[in-house]
Amino acid sequence: MLVFAKKKSVQQKIESLKKATSIGFVPTMGALHKGHLSLIERAKKENDLVVVSVFVNPTQFDKQEDLINYPKTIEKDLSLLKSVFCDIVFAPSAHEIYANNITSQAFDFDGLEFQMEGKFRTGHFDGVGTIVKRLFEIVKPTKAYFGEKDFQQLQIIRTMVKKHQIPVKIVGCDIYREDDGLAMSSRNTRLTKAHREAAPFIYKTLKQAKVKFGTENALDVVGWVENEFKKQPLLELEYFEIADEETLQTIKNKDIKQKYRAFIAVFAGEIRLIDNISL
Ligand code: PAF
Repeated sequence: MLVFAKKKSVQQKIESLKKATSIGFVPTMGALHKGHLSLIERAKKENDLVVVSVFVNPTQFDKQEDLINYPKTIEKDLSLLKSVFCDIVFAPSAHEIYANNITSQAFDFDGLEFQMEGKFRTGHFDGVGTIVKRLFEIVKPTKAYFGEKDFQQLQIIRTMVKKHQIPVKIVGCDIYREDDGLAMSSRNTRLTKAHREAAPFIYKTLKQAKVKFGTENALDVVGWVENEFKKQPLLELEYFEIADEETLQTIKNKDIKQKYRAFIAVFAGEIRLIDNISL
């Protein structure tokens, strides 16, 4: 496994290997868990060469303290990456990516950026778009892999790639869960014992909401979920929405031809957790 911190050197290496190969790319912010490893394993199966980036991107954090507290575990990450036979790791500094200008490019994601996470995390998706576009320009992958836990991010990246005509295939991968159903996230390591024990309630409720959506209208399901969370002293619901999978617009009435998904954001103490389920 080769590890690079400089754009030029990783680019040169990839260029020298590219001639006969397809490149699978998994961008990460480190603090790797089994969910990330499953993306890398899929990329390994579908490509000749796998590149993983490890970069805690400052421009996608709306709160400075969240950036400071984000887990940084590069040594452990590197040994995990080695264990799944990752070929190339790109782990740049913020200066290498942004020089002295740590700001985002402004994007138009056709309104997807104003839904759900966009309402609560100002500038987040401009930050994600900025870093993912730069990483794509450096790595020039054939396929790039993203988890569906960040479903809104996945749709936004698909839109960015289309609008900016970036020649990469975006692959969305199933949410990887703990045995008790909690969606894997680097943030889970920061949960207190009590909050960790309470957190599987999120997925349990999503599954129940899915069943209810079969017979009830969206507004009633939303009301039911909001009520369920009122009974949970350790979990604070930020939003629960049922939205169209393509436009991410909240729905009021069902149309059987459309695909819907339920999205949720919950505070477990200080830690913000998100999840979603296809309905
Ligand atoms: O999903 C993430 O970990 C990040 O948003 C990403 C895509 C690596 C960009 O920093």
